[in-house]
Amino acid sequence: MLLSAAILENPLKQGVRGQKRLYFPAVSAQTMAMTNIDQSSAGKPSIFVTRRWPADAEAALSQYFVPTFNLDDRPLSAAEMAAGFASHDAIAPTVSDKIGADIITAGANGKGRLIANFGVGVNHIDLDAAATAGIAVSNTPGVLTDATADLALTLILMLSRRAGEGERELRAGEWQGWRPTHLMGRALQGKTLGIIGMGRIGKAVAQRAALGFGMKIVFYNRSRIDEISAYPARQLDDVESVCQIADCLSLHCAASADTFHILNAERLAMMRPDAYVINTARGDVIDETALAAALLAKKLGGAGLDVFQGEPVIDPALLAAPNTVLLPHLGSATIETRTAMGLKVVENARAFFAGQPLIDPV
Ligand code: DGY
Repeated sequence: MLLSAAILENPLKQGVRGQKRLYFPAVSAQTMAMTNIDQSSAGKPSIFVTRRWPADAEAALSQYFVPTFNLDDRPLSAAEMAAGFASHDAIAPTVSDKIGADIITAGANGKGRLIANFGVGVNHIDLDAAATAGIAVSNTPGVLTDATADLALTLILMLSRRAGEGERELRAGEWQGWRPTHLMGRALQGKTLGIIGMGRIGKAVAQRAALGFGMKIVFYNRSRIDEISAYPARQLDDVESVCQIADCLSLHCAASADTFHILNAERLAMMRPDAYVINTARGDVIDETALAAALLAKKLGGAGLDVFQGEPVIDPALLAAPNTVLLPHLGSATIETRTAMGLKVVENARAFFAGQPLIDPV
């Protein structure tokens, strides 16, 4: 349902609090009571925020912008986002919002000038349409590197130590007590971690795995990487070579036409039958049907996935596959990181509306 103009406008200004529980600026009741709205909003650009942010990030945004927040934090329809972008100077979407040409054109035909993405990945935004419409796009690189790398290690450990299986067994009341052969996993020390995409996050995962867990590192990256010296890591010429020797393969490439299903049936078939696949990048980089088939046929040791092609809908074949750990896109989900992501949106939008270059242009 298209939101009415009154609800899309800043509700403090409109005085619609209580009409419908949709959009309110994230300022405390006390702050609201003390703020002179007309003065505080004078000259500030407006920004339409599609989902809730951590409180400190919403407060920082409210300092410099006139924000419209989605207080109920429900997924918005394309029509709602189009109307929101058209009636604000900027929109701050995130990975779960598909920002297609329809929304971008509506924004450009209205007030919209900037898409300040809350997140580093921008495969949900039609960048060609933005360029054609003259809409600037920014993202939030850097601040989610450590959190995402930590989560990749979480998945590696959960698989190799069978933590998911163990927890499910215990909760189901099926634990029959300690015994020497119960749920034996495999050690990481001396095993080979293969990385596809040696950018910031790939390197952070490699560092943790090599220095923290004694793993050997091999990787594939489109361009040559020279500067790794803190731990031994070998760059291989192609994805296939990494697939063939990895005990654990972790994907860290951005989603694009070039990386769509970079891990396909053919490459999965080259992997060791006990190898693990880890994905904290984007669902699109793996052919999930082929992955589920390989797991079911026991041609692979397991998969740890934080991202999915049709998320939040999960392919039932993956749910049914043995030895999987499936998480709901938690890579950057720490209060510190999500706050830092929000602050990056604020920095980029402030630079843009001050007429300066974006800090993180896409
Ligand atoms: C991103 O920023 O692209 C992440 O996937 C969201 O955590």
